[in-house]
Amino acid sequence: MPGGCSRGPAAGDGRLRLARLALVLLGWVSSTSLPSSASSSTSSASLPAPAASGQPRLPGRCPPPCECSEAARTVKCVNRNLTEVPADLPPYVRNLFLTGNQLAVLPAGAFARRPPLADLAALNLSGNRLREVDAGAFEHLPGLRQLDLSHNPLIDLSPFAFSGSNASVAAPSPLVELFLNRLEPPAAERQNRSFEGMVAAALRAGHALRGLHRLELASNQLLYLPRDALAQLPGLRHLDLRNNSLVSLTHASFRNLTHLESLHLEGNALKVLRNGTLAELQSLPHVRVFLDDNPWVCDCHMPDMVAWLKETEVVQGKGRLTCAFPEKMRHRVLLELNSSDLDCDPILPPSLQTSYVFLGIVLALIGAIFLLVLYLNRKGIKKWMHNIRDACRDHMEGYHYRYEINADPRLTNLSSNSDV
Ligand SMILES: *[C@@H]1O[C@H](CO)[C@@H](O)[C@H](O)[C@H]1NC(C)=O
Ligand SMILES: *[C@@H]1O[C@H](CO)[C@@H](O)[C@H](O)[C@H]1NC(C)=O
Ligand SMILES: *[C@@H]1O[C@H](CO)[C@@H](O)[C@H](O)[C@H]1NC(C)=O
Ligand SMILES: *[C@@H]1O[C@H](CO)[C@@H](O)[C@H](O)[C@H]1NC(C)=O
Ligand SMILES: *[C@@H]1O[C@H](CO)[C@@H](O)[C@H](O)[C@H]1NC(C)=O
Ligand SMILES: *[C@@H]1O[C@H](CO)[C@@H](O)[C@H](O)[C@H]1NC(C)=O
Ligand SMILES: *[C@@H]1O[C@H](CO)[C@@H](O)[C@H](O)[C@H]1NC(C)=O
Ligand SMILES: *[C@@H]1O[C@H](CO)[C@@H](O)[C@H](O)[C@H]1NC(C)=O
Repeated sequence: MPGGCSRGPAAGDGRLRLARLALVLLGWVSSTSLPSSASSSTSSASLPAPAASGQPRLPGRCPPPCECSEAARTVKCVNRNLTEVPADLPPYVRNLFLTGNQLAVLPAGAFARRPPLADLAALNLSGNRLREVDAGAFEHLPGLRQLDLSHNPLIDLSPFAFSGSNASVAAPSPLVELFLNRLEPPAAERQNRSFEGMVAAALRAGHALRGLHRLELASNQLLYLPRDALAQLPGLRHLDLRNNSLVSLTHASFRNLTHLESLHLEGNALKVLRNGTLAELQSLPHVRVFLDDNPWVCDCHMPDMVAWLKETEVVQGKGRLTCAFPEKMRHRVLLELNSSDLDCDPILPPSLQTSYVFLGIVLALIGAIFLLVLYLNRKGIKKWMHNIRDACRDHMEGYHYRYEINADPRLTNLSSNSDV
């Protein structure tokens, strides 16, 4: 120990100085260790120099409710109830998570900054209760490659949301991956406007998404795929249409998707694939198609698809596909069917059918006899009708009489007077 107890009064001074030195040292150590721990992901404290902590924050630094990491070039504003996009996003941002907020509306140029956020490559806007995305909402983001708009109740997606507000120019969008899963508008509001049409229009507009490689449209309750929804996406490699309500692909066209590698159609309401669709899928050189969990109907429309399934290498897990209808075919494996199994019998089995025909004839006979009896008895019926009419008339007259007595003001006065 450097300081003994036997030292004079000067020793106290020295100890004080030593303590001060230790404090300064401690401060320096903690301040140098701060940026390294902060760089992982803490809030506005991640300014490059600790000396700047006393100075006013520069514009374009970390906005207060967010967590920024310059090292990872990431800004996270997660579950913060934000109602608009923060104005002062740091210019280095490459990954922006703006999830679980309450943005509601994304106006034109929502991310346009000066200077522009040139490095922003991945933008996650999932779960923001977004109802409206305006034309040009993603303008001035020249490096935007991945956009996630999932889990938003979109009822108003502008056709020019991805193509820029100036539709006459329609510069290509830099987007490569677009996630539009679970855009569930409230049931009442989606009846007004076709959700399918709205999404298709945004995918088509201005041929802007020609660079898109991945498109996810899962869990959207899509009932159909508009004919030209995919026509302007020639670069598409991965298309996810899982967990929708697609009944048929007859009107959809995959013809131009020559780069398509995966097509997910699991969990839809597909009943059969027709020749046209089969030929289109077969013509795509690299595609893998996923068809599980669809209610295949194994009737006389099915043989073309079964024949194709037996030949093709395109369908993944084709041995798992089974019939859902008709009842007698349920759980039969599609690949194991042969054309003698597949017919379009009416739903009734033949034995029941003949008995229904017989029942029909009997009912018709009974009806005819009834009419004949009526005809033969027409005089009696006429008399009977007259009797009924007379009886009614008598009854009505009696009723009328009583009613008039009740309505007679003199009588009512009389009764009220007698009360007094
Ligand atoms: C967001 O709002 C909800 C409900 O209004 C509230 O419970 C929650 O604490 C808010 N979160 C923040 C980060 O303010
Ligand atoms: C966007 O954020 C949500 C919620 O955190 C997450 O589930 C999703 O995977 C993210 N999207 C992408 C493309 O990473
Ligand atoms: C669209 O772009 C063209 C050419 O750059 C320009 O002349 C026109 O004024 C723009 N229109 C709007 C509405 O910004
Ligand atoms: C739906 O249509 C009705 C009448 O056509 C209109 O009053 C209502 O505002 C529409 N709702 C939406 C969400 O567009
Ligand atoms: C399928 O989509 C519906 C809504 O469209 C959703 O409620 C459900 O959770 C989804 N199922 C799966 C397995 O993703
Ligand atoms: C396929 O692409 C050609 C030219 O790129 C276009 O003219 C045609 O309309 C497209 N067809 C479909 C069905 O998308
Ligand atoms: C489908 O194509 C096959 C072979 O190309 C043909 O035999 C069959 O008749 C076609 N089916 C229909 C419904 O046109
Ligand atoms: C077709 O099905 C019948 C009975 O369902 C069976 O006897 C026959 O072997 C099957 N033919 C082929 C080629 O599988």
